[in-house]
Amino acid sequence: MNVKNLKAFVLTTPKNVKNLMKTQFAKPEGKVGEFFTLAMNVFNFKLYNAVYNFVPKDEGVKILDVGFGNGDTLKRLDEKLDAKLYGIDISEDMKVLATKANAEAVAKERMFLTVGDVEDMPYEDSFFDCVYTVNTVYFYKDADKAFSEMHRVLKDGGRFICGFYSKEYYERSEKYQFEGETYYSTRELKELVQAHGFENVKIKVVDEKKFMYCLVGKKRGNEIDNDSSDE
Ligand SMILES: C[S@@+](CC[C@H](N)C(=O)[O-])C[C@H]1O[C@@H](n2cnc3c(N)ncnc32)[C@H](O)[C@@H]1O
Repeated sequence: MNVKNLKAFVLTTPKNVKNLMKTQFAKPEGKVGEFFTLAMNVFNFKLYNAVYNFVPKDEGVKILDVGFGNGDTLKRLDEKLDAKLYGIDISEDMKVLATKANAEAVAKERMFLTVGDVEDMPYEDSFFDCVYTVNTVYFYKDADKAFSEMHRVLKDGGRFICGFYSKEYYERSEKYQFEGETYYSTRELKELVQAHGFENVKIKVVDEKKFMYCLVGKKRGNEIDNDSSDE
């Protein structure tokens, strides 16, 4: 669907709007997807800042963004860190968009973007110093596979960061809930992540009124660097 048709479509029924939101948040596509990702950049910047706070800052660290969307968080990290940045997203169109937004970093091989599913990632075991994801946990079809994969590709001692809105955000109204998605309370997500082998798991409050949180944990082993979290 192009932007021209969007207005007519959204005016038809609230159900159409809801379906559009469901598909475009879970897998943004086309011009409409581009618009949705820009809206996410506005609403979620506090989560992006939290990710920046907690990523390791050492030179040459390898960092993976799972579900990078339009690549805004990666761009922010590329501006501030001397790191090798990787991203994986299930949407082909997001790869195109994020590549455009990060053209120089991609050309100079500071950033590597891939189309793929978190549940089956094309990376070697223990490859990354840090894996982070923002606003993607609700969409995993098999959360066990997704968390096992994120754990597998992390080095021993590597950091895991997950920005999310807690279940309470979605429970305010049915209009925020979408069939097939899974929402977690802070305790549920913490327990799920621990069940997949992550340690020292803590929940940081990003914006309590908006139910925004950032989970930070690590894979067993000596921590990559101890200075980047603001505990
Ligand atoms: C709500 S958007 C968040 C985008 C970005 N992280 C942000 O906060 O701006 C969710 C993103 O996760 C991607 N995604 C959803 N399910 C995925 C999966 N199973 N594996 C990889 N990416 C996925 C979508 O294509 C989309 O770009």
